[in-house]
Amino acid sequence: MSRLPDPCVFVIFGGAGDLASRLLLPALCNLKATGLLPTGFALIGVARSEMTDDSFRAQTCAALEKTATGVAANDRQWICERLHYVKGDFDDPQTYSALGKRLPEMQQASSAGPSALFYLATPPSYFAPIVRQLGAAGLVREDPGKWRRVIIEKPFGRDLASAETLNSEILSVLSESQTYRIDHYLGKETVQNIMALRFANGLFEPLWNRNHIDHVQITVAETLGVEHRGRFYDATGALRDMVPSHLFQLLSLTAMEPPTCFDADQVRVEKTKVLNAVHFGQKEAQADVVRAQYTAGVAAGQKMNAYRNSPDVRSDSDTETFVAMKLRIANWRWTGVPFYLRTGKSLAKRRTEILIRFKRAPLALFHEVTDAELVPNDLILHIQPDEGVSLRFNAKVPGQQFRLGDVNMDFKYGDYFQEEPRTGYETLLYDCMIGDATQFQRADTIEAGWKIVQPVLDLWAAKPGAPPQYAAGSSGPQEADALMERDGRQWRSLDTNGTHKV
Ligand code: BG6
Repeated sequence: MSRLPDPCVFVIFGGAGDLASRLLLPALCNLKATGLLPTGFALIGVARSEMTDDSFRAQTCAALEKTATGVAANDRQWICERLHYVKGDFDDPQTYSALGKRLPEMQQASSAGPSALFYLATPPSYFAPIVRQLGAAGLVREDPGKWRRVIIEKPFGRDLASAETLNSEILSVLSESQTYRIDHYLGKETVQNIMALRFANGLFEPLWNRNHIDHVQITVAETLGVEHRGRFYDATGALRDMVPSHLFQLLSLTAMEPPTCFDADQVRVEKTKVLNAVHFGQKEAQADVVRAQYTAGVAAGQKMNAYRNSPDVRSDSDTETFVAMKLRIANWRWTGVPFYLRTGKSLAKRRTEILIRFKRAPLALFHEVTDAELVPNDLILHIQPDEGVSLRFNAKVPGQQFRLGDVNMDFKYGDYFQEEPRTGYETLLYDCMIGDATQFQRADTIEAGWKIVQPVLDLWAAKPGAPPQYAAGSSGPQEADALMERDGRQWRSLDTNGTHKV
């Protein structure tokens, strides 16, 4: 991170909303504090509420005092001085003509230059209409020295067909290089570190294949329930919400081939190839997927109501809040190595991690140790919380007898690197402003992800019914354990004490 972005105007559709005040604007304050915003910079919030520049500024600045706490007051102030507002409906052409008039004013007032980034922090039903209107108003036309880019939030579609339609609507107005489909997992340092770990070290890559790896587990466990998002979540469920986006990003970073260089297209080609190599049809949807819904319990010390008793959730809802699946990647490197994925709400621990289990040593050469007592080596990438990497291996327990104990080597980010205040959006916003799309999803990657889960969506639509249950605060349903036990394996426990211990 060293190149300064071109002067530009940052336009947020949904600028008065939660995402903008909680994450996007604090991220911009953090970028300002680290010297990564151009001096020529202005921000326009677009929303329906009746507000003026002054009232939008006052409201946003008050919110930033609570949400951008890690930055100096003068950096917050710098952002606040550059805030402007356009009131309007997202499907009304007048909104876009008003915006078209304000953009050149920003060039005058804030030396913001002709380039602009449009961030769609809106409900997904507005993604295509906004892009269409931006196109009709001529706001996404590029010229030499003038770029126009659009960041689109998730969810990108709700199945394969809707994702394809959305892609084609968007790409009828924008070029792929103007389109930045966001997955906030790609903004996480530890997710970006997967590539550094694999490709900046000579140690791991020779072992990173079917000859040495027994299986891989990818876990995204949350302790929170659906909170205030019942309406969205009940129509979405854990599979759509998490798997084609966040879990598949973790999967492709773990399984991809080394790219020829760190160019956005080269990296994304390799990631997409992984998803294209997952062969998942009706048979697998039937046999290798478990869904479940949480009932009342205690998660992270909090008493939780059953999912069905959450606000805005139907009292007879069959929506899954947990999903586990087994995938096979049919390529030279991974054939025969299962990848197990699980994610759920209201679980025992908040933990996102990737476990790489290596094959056991072939033979116990030591007296009193049986083959079964040799612990397999696990490399665990701790994505969050307690970011780091740990490696589990056997060591001799001191004493006269030759006994083995399993031990860990731990790397914790916090021990080596100073943490800067972050919302997780800094890298993504900065990358978009400098035109680096590596950490954004391409149309084909999105569609490849939906292609894998589509047979599961079809099966569930054909066979609706109450999913199995798990108690809030537990490690998930026993059906998920059975998915592993069938293959003679077990999930890494969510209950382990000490985040880095196995
Ligand atoms: C979002 C999902 O994309 O990711 C949420 O819609 C989920 O349901 C969230 O809670 C998890 O993100 P993080 O960064 O807290 O792991």
